[in-house]
Amino acid sequence: MIVLGIESSCDETSVALVSDGRIVLSCETASSLSTFAGMGGVIPEYAARAQVESIIPVLRNALDAASLSICDVDLIAVTHGPGLLGSLLVGTVTARILASVHAIPLLPIHHTLGHLSSVWLNSDDDAPPPHFPSLTLSVSGGHTDLWFRTGHRTGIRLGRTLDDAAGEAFDKGAVLLGLPYPGGPALAALASRGDEQAYSFPDPLSRESGTDFSFSGLKTSLKYLLRDLGASADIPSVAASYQLAICRHLVSRLLKASEAHPSVRELHIVGGVAANERLRSLVRASFSPSMALRCPMQRYCTDNAAMIASAGYFLWKEGCRPHDFRTEATLPECLDESFRT
Ligand code: KG4
Ligand code: ZN
Repeated sequence: MIVLGIESSCDETSVALVSDGRIVLSCETASSLSTFAGMGGVIPEYAARAQVESIIPVLRNALDAASLSICDVDLIAVTHGPGLLGSLLVGTVTARILASVHAIPLLPIHHTLGHLSSVWLNSDDDAPPPHFPSLTLSVSGGHTDLWFRTGHRTGIRLGRTLDDAAGEAFDKGAVLLGLPYPGGPALAALASRGDEQAYSFPDPLSRESGTDFSFSGLKTSLKYLLRDLGASADIPSVAASYQLAICRHLVSRLLKASEAHPSVRELHIVGGVAANERLRSLVRASFSPSMALRCPMQRYCTDNAAMIASAGYFLWKEGCRPHDFRTEATLPECLDESFRT
């Protein structure tokens, strides 16, 4: 089954062709991110205009790269939220027109469900496909959630951030360190040259028994550390210590959740922050090798249309069929928790 995925929720315009939810035939992505490097963040109107300019060329490139035509497509899957409304509308209008003109079924996909599906996309190794139940850490610029997943559409949220998202902690920390937006990759690159034991940061929510997250205290600590150190600050080591504090906090929640669900032998880490190598290595070092760790390939950690196509495939397989939908900047959670009752 060939699924055409379209993702346009923020600054990336991405179109992918994915076979059977796992095999990426092509994934073409244009980004307006460099436009925002000196602006500290994405400006929605600029991002939407870039989406309009990119969507048709990206669509053409994706079909060409897969050596397919639109007539070969069995299903279209498009992100309908959450995200920037103007950007989202470019993707959903394009998808609606393609579906209508070519009589192809269309499924709307929750952006975060796309991230959760990204571990199913083809990987460099021959590992068997992921399976449920899983503990899934979803860490991006917009959210930080920990799920106990029982299926592609069902799960229980075990924890969420009480303030900033993990990606925001990287981005805001990067601003304090004078790095360009988006901060995650820049901060990680700087940290690779530093000593992560050089400075200490507090352990957020250490007195809480739950599995929620909090990052705003770390950001405040970084601000005061830089103020107090002044010119004597070893900036790469500050970055490394700050990165370690974020990763430790994430891993502490995963460990707690794993203790509470000892039967789960599968950990999934998805979203932009899953690209962070220090996070991956810390998780590996913190769990026994019998716990399978699934992270998407680097290129499928950040926003992309392949993950949307994959989610569309699995929803279709589980019986989901085209239905009315609206394009929404905000949406409720991506998994149905009601199976609990
Ligand atoms: O999933 P994503 O592309 O977009 C959202 O849905 O938010 O995630 C973007 C976030 C940004 O905050 C970015 O700084 C962070 O992911 N990020 C990273 C790395 N690559 C991207 N954070 C830490 N280390 C990285 N290597
Ligand atoms: Zn995302």
